[in-house]
Amino acid sequence: MTYTPLPLTAELHDYLLAHSTAPDEVMAELIAETWSALPDDAGMQVAPEQAAFLRMLTTLTGVRRAVEVGTFTGMSSLSIARGLADGGRLICFDISEDYTDVARRYWKRAGVDDRIELRIGPAAERLRELPAEPHLDLVFIDADKEGYQTYWEELVPRVRPGGVLLVDNTLWSGRVLDPQSDSDQAIVAFNDAVVADKRVEAVILPIRDGLTMARRLA
Ligand SMILES: C[S@@+](CC[C@H](N)C(=O)[O-])C[C@H]1O[C@@H](n2cnc3c(N)ncnc32)[C@H](O)[C@@H]1O
Repeated sequence: MTYTPLPLTAELHDYLLAHSTAPDEVMAELIAETWSALPDDAGMQVAPEQAAFLRMLTTLTGVRRAVEVGTFTGMSSLSIARGLADGGRLICFDISEDYTDVARRYWKRAGVDDRIELRIGPAAERLRELPAEPHLDLVFIDADKEGYQTYWEELVPRVRPGGVLLVDNTLWSGRVLDPQSDSDQAIVAFNDAVVADKRVEAVILPIRDGLTMARRLA
């Protein structure tokens, strides 16, 4: 059996956005400020449809303990924090005070700052501060691509059975098919490692730049 995938043209993408719940005022202002203040870096922000997906998945799965690696100006963390169950907490890891100062402002504006703890520093080191036992319901990895495998190895044992790991940019603008740079190679090696990892079952969702969704097995 063969299946021809649907090519997501710009027009179809516009249609998809127009028929999904739109970002609210706080989120829309965060998107606008990131693009006006940081035009060269703003493409790092998750897409609106990814933000909506993060919030919905967090809500649907009743997440109480979440970790994010790669926060930037806060769009994905805001989405996860808004979806947390009562009493839920999100710990964010990033190396940049400048980027995350923007995030902090928007968390406060959205009234979710009391649910989020930000830890600044190289995530490979700081993730080791987390309790070693499986306690996380949700993990979102979206930082430097060369670090993905290290973050995965630190986090998979800390995710409870049935918990979810999401990893962004795993189709890497299609460069997974013809890897050239170090980051291309890192994503290819990471994807190979995930599909061979017996601790999880995984699917790459073709949402924006590719989003791996993995469920921790018992
Ligand atoms: C793609 S952006 C994250 C986008 C974010 N998820 C959002 O929705 O706006 C990548 C982030 O990873 C951070 N980063 C890069 N290298 C890092 C490292 N070694 N440890 C922790 N964070 C890192 C960068 O400072 C940047 O904010």
